[in-house]
Amino acid sequence: MVMQMEISDAIKTRRSIRSFKKDPVPDDLLRQIIEAGAFAPSSHNTQPWEFIIIKDRTTIEKLSRTHEWSAHLKGAPVVIVACGNLKKRDHVFPCMVSVALAVENMLLAINSLGLATCWTYIHNPELPRAEKNVKETFGLPDHIIPLCMLPIGYPASTQKNKKIVKTEKIIHYEKYSEKS
Ligand SMILES: Cc1cc2nc3c(=O)[nH]c(=O)nc-3n(C[C@H](O)[C@H](O)[C@H](O)COP(=O)(O)O)c2cc1C
Repeated sequence: MVMQMEISDAIKTRRSIRSFKKDPVPDDLLRQIIEAGAFAPSSHNTQPWEFIIIKDRTTIEKLSRTHEWSAHLKGAPVVIVACGNLKKRDHVFPCMVSVALAVENMLLAINSLGLATCWTYIHNPELPRAEKNVKETFGLPDHIIPLCMLPIGYPASTQKNKKIVKTEKIIHYEKYSEKS
């Protein structure tokens, strides 16, 4: 299986899916997904990302209890935890933004492969408990910051159409002006 979707279709049909079929995700697809992430732009081209692939049911169960919005992980055949490596980019903000761009590439790749996922937060300085839980689960060293978890599987549900804010409402010509 190779990614075939037009980029505009991959962008416009991507949705967060939280229920998955039990069918396993082939390893070569997981590699393609991570490779899509590896082509993202990054601060000073440091490519500061690391990806942990988890299929172990006990670990996935534990990750599903990370916080109140992570229960959907339980049904996923595989989870990828995307991390930033502060030894590769030593400031947290550009490191995490770079990893987020890699993850968006991965979300689009997942969609174009007929798979589904949902960005599930870990790193949030305002809610530090999730990060602490995940760091403990994997025994991560201080320089590895887990950004988010991606439960991946074949979709077992669809999402209702999402209302997208009209483009005119978010474009500002020459200067910023408040729009209602
Ligand atoms: C930074 C970020 C954190 C998110 N965290 C969670 C989460 O912890 N749990 C969850 O179920 N969804 C999470 N989501 C998914 C959003 O709820 C979802 O993207 C949003 O509702 C829009 O729906 P869509 O992705 O289908 O377009 C997160 C998304 C982003 C971008």
